[in-house]
Amino acid sequence: MGKSEIDDLPGVGPTIAEKLRESGYSDVMSIAVASPRELSDVVDIGEATAVKIIKAARKLADIGNFETGAVLLERRAKIGYISSGSKSLDELLGGRGFESQAITELFGEFGSGKTQIAHQLCVNAQLPAEKGGLESHAFYIDTENTFRPDRIIQMAEACDLDPDDVLQKIHVARAYNSSHQMLLVEKVNELSKEIPARLLVVDSLTAHFRAEYVGRGALADRQQKLNKHMHDLMRWGDLNNGVVCVTNQVSAKPDAFFGDPTRPIGGHIVGHTATFRIYLRKSKGGKRIARLIDSPNLPEGEAVFSVSEKGIRD
Ligand SMILES: Nc1ncnc2c1ncn2[C@@H]1O[C@H](COP(=O)(O)OP(=O)(O)O)[C@@H](O)[C@H]1O
Ligand SMILES: [Mg+2]
Repeated sequence: MGKSEIDDLPGVGPTIAEKLRESGYSDVMSIAVASPRELSDVVDIGEATAVKIIKAARKLADIGNFETGAVLLERRAKIGYISSGSKSLDELLGGRGFESQAITELFGEFGSGKTQIAHQLCVNAQLPAEKGGLESHAFYIDTENTFRPDRIIQMAEACDLDPDDVLQKIHVARAYNSSHQMLLVEKVNELSKEIPARLLVVDSLTAHFRAEYVGRGALADRQQKLNKHMHDLMRWGDLNNGVVCVTNQVSAKPDAFFGDPTRPIGGHIVGHTATFRIYLRKSKGGKRIARLIDSPNLPEGEAVFSVSEKGIRD
């Protein structure tokens, strides 16, 4: 890995910088919030040195300021929404669909409709506000090669939008591994200075992480990376007043699963950082059931929707 902001920390030479990176401390914030004990253990430096490095990181890190409730209220007043295409699903999310300045996680087994909803959001984001959109472009980070332009065309036509125009406003990148995936968020940040996008999809958030970090020993590392990734996504949502939608595949073991909504991969990390978590499952006759799980301000509940040729509908 090349040089980064951690090389500029006083007391951090090239050797320590490399060790920090290897242990997953790739940015100043991750060091600023570490404990001296943890850092000296993991990186194999004295605790006194660790204290010095942490202090320096805290000075450098943008730890953030307190804001008054009034400022926060003003910020919340600017929240925008993208309709899912289904009234019932929008209702579950408080009435207007997917919120900006928040991460919504769609989790469920293969074929439960995660990618379909993600596609629909890319189309609906382009609608005017009165039709449930934000008149915006969309970014789509595709990790499983499941983005389908022809599906977008179907959905766009069903919304009376010009399909070519719609496709022009969806910016898709394949992510080849988890590091690439994380790097693409930086790219999105850069591009967002020119492209007026208020939707960022990561489909799938966890597939690469699951494949690459295998076994107990890799768990801490994986969670740390995933944590950083989620925070990068959240920052994009805040800075651009944008909707962030991530997908997470879980295996179908409803019995073991139902009592324990933290079972999807990334468990606690993803669960605690996502603002809204929707569990999707297939039901009879092509119907899908969405269930909202531990939302900060909405009651838990279920919505029934369908996936048709037109897209996501009631
Ligand atoms: N053009 C279409 N018309 C109707 N249903 C579709 C169409 N395309 C996909 N679907 C439905 O969506 C399902 C796939 O959902 P998908 O979002 O890819 O699942 P995942 O949760 O694995 O991402 C298919 O099994 C099918 O039921
Ligand atoms: Mg999918």
